[in-house]
Amino acid sequence: GVESLMRIPPSVLKKHNTREDAWSVFNGKVYNITAYLPFHPGGEKELMRVAGRDGTKLFASTHAWVNVDFMLDTCLVGFLVSEPSL
Ligand code: HEM
Repeated sequence: GVESLMRIPPSVLKKHNTREDAWSVFNGKVYNITAYLPFHPGGEKELMRVAGRDGTKLFASTHAWVNVDFMLDTCLVGFLVSEPSL
C-alpha cells in the first residue's frame, strides 16, 4: 500500500546512481530502474543518464507517449520530497 512507500529527498536519490542500484524520478515518483535497464528499447546508456536524478524532462522529450506509471508500477519506491531543513 501507499503507506509503505518512502519519502525520498534529492540527497538520498543521488546515491542510487549505479548500474547495480539505479533510481530515477518520473513525475514526482521514485522508481528503482535497475531491473529494467537491460530491457529499455532506447538502450541502457540512455537510461543511465537519469540514474540518481529527476528524469521527468528527458523522459518527456524522448517519449511522452510511454506510460511509465503502468510499466514500472512494481518498481515504485516512493515519492520525491524536498530536502528536510536542519
Ligand atoms: C525508447 C521506455 C527512459 C530514451 C523507449 C521505448 C520504451 C521506453 C517503451 C520504446 C518506445 C517506442 O518505440 O515507441 C522507457 C522507460 C523509461 C525510459 C519505461 C523510464 C524508466 C528514457 C530516458 C531516455 C530514453 C530517460 C533518455 C535519456 C529513449 C530513446 C528511445 C527510447 C532515445 C528510442 C529508441 C529507438 O527507437 O531507437 N523507451 N524509457 N528513455 N527511449 Fe526510453
